[in-house]
Amino acid sequence: MAQITVTTDRVIGQVDRRIFGGFIENEGRAIDGGVYEPGSPFADESGVRTDTRDAIAGLSMPVLRWPGGNFVSAYHWVDGVGPREARPSRWDPAWGAVERNQFGTDEFMTYCADLGTEPYLCFNMGTGTLDEAMAWLEYCNGTEDTHWANLRRQHGREEPYGVTYWGLGNEMWGDFQIGHLTAQEYAAKAKRWALALKRVDPTIQLVACGRDGLQADWDAVVIEALVKYVDWYSMHIYTGSDDHWSNVLQVHQVDRALDYAGALIAGARYRQGVEHPVHITYDEWNTWFATRNDRRRGELVQERHTLSDALAVATYLNIFVRRSDVVKMANLAQVVNVLAPIVTGPDGVLKQAIYHPFAIAAAHTQDLAVDTYVECPSYAHTVEHNDRWKHTVSDLGPFPVLDVAATRSADGTRLVVSVINRDPESEHRISLVLADTALAGNVTVRTISGPHPLATNEWDAPDVVGVQESALDGSGNALELTVGACSYVQIDAPIGAHRD
Ligand code: AHR
Repeated sequence: MAQITVTTDRVIGQVDRRIFGGFIENEGRAIDGGVYEPGSPFADESGVRTDTRDAIAGLSMPVLRWPGGNFVSAYHWVDGVGPREARPSRWDPAWGAVERNQFGTDEFMTYCADLGTEPYLCFNMGTGTLDEAMAWLEYCNGTEDTHWANLRRQHGREEPYGVTYWGLGNEMWGDFQIGHLTAQEYAAKAKRWALALKRVDPTIQLVACGRDGLQADWDAVVIEALVKYVDWYSMHIYTGSDDHWSNVLQVHQVDRALDYAGALIAGARYRQGVEHPVHITYDEWNTWFATRNDRRRGELVQERHTLSDALAVATYLNIFVRRSDVVKMANLAQVVNVLAPIVTGPDGVLKQAIYHPFAIAAAHTQDLAVDTYVECPSYAHTVEHNDRWKHTVSDLGPFPVLDVAATRSADGTRLVVSVINRDPESEHRISLVLADTALAGNVTVRTISGPHPLATNEWDAPDVVGVQESALDGSGNALELTVGACSYVQIDAPIGAHRD
């Protein structure tokens, strides 16, 4: 029998709710046809699909990043404000499509307010100018009697939006990015922008554009140059493979990237005497394997996510919880239609397999990450299937087949343990042992599973991968249960008052 020992006294980090953030981009059917679809029977009077918004609300996302992604590097925000009929249509060179600009800044702000989520905007550092970026910031946050703040008022919004998070470009390192830059060019430009933008609004938090956190010729250069001027360092990761083990284990590249980038940030802050914190945000992450980026909007990256992907997503979230000392924000890429937990159709929305682990983790993860000790079979990942993303992770193994993270409430009355059985063949009987507290009542167990690793939810079978809830008697300091092959179990337990 496997054993998971949880010591609730040993707190390893304060979980930041912003790790349950999301990302939507003007790409494919994410906005047009996903979030916004006038004429749909689900649309409200402003054209927003309420079924999509309700499904997003079920993910309890505290922060939402927009408008890109690659799209932002040729996006002029001013095209997307003011009377809709007067907004210009523009060619979007990132995704090869016409952007009609019907869903812009004010619509996004309303959307965030309706969802109770914080907006995170990204500046165009490709074709955009500093002047344009300063104007956008003033449009959103300006309080004085100035042109851009007055334009916002003229568009019906008296109060400033008070947007806190602003990204200094998106993936500026790649030659696929409109106006891409070398690390040195980016660092010099981002420093100039940061100094100027904080003069417009010193309360904002700026996010430097990182790569995957592992590159000496980008991450090391940019961190060293910008640590003084920014509040966040952004990293992106996509993983995925047609091989189940590679699909779920590639996610552990996050551990390596956090070690490296975390050390670079700590070293640069120390050397330069930087007192303010610089946290990591994984502001794009997800599984992405089956669909390729063919750069045609409409048929683009509408990934069909499997149960195996759901376990990979759960593993990402477990890692963010375990590494909550350095990761303070993460944004699932993306949320609707494009690489998404939510797919829209004429008759409503479909929740893909990855929707469910995200929803229950976001809803029930507690404030403090606590130490776990896991004794279970391990898997040596000797044959990597990494043709798509080139993540090599076998040296990080052998990997426990059970991936575990635990959190408790600050007052020590609730414990939530997240157990992912990545083993596609065997169920595992586990004993959950509480080293320093006891169960104090019935335990809720939420299970996500399916018939096989490649199981998907489809329009005519939407609940193949879903959540089942059950209850177990809880008393004493141990609990036994079986975790099925290829499944995710969230154990939600009332516990005795936490010992000091
Ligand atoms: O999420 C899809 C794309 O992936 C984003 O636009 C880009 O930032 C990343 O390469």
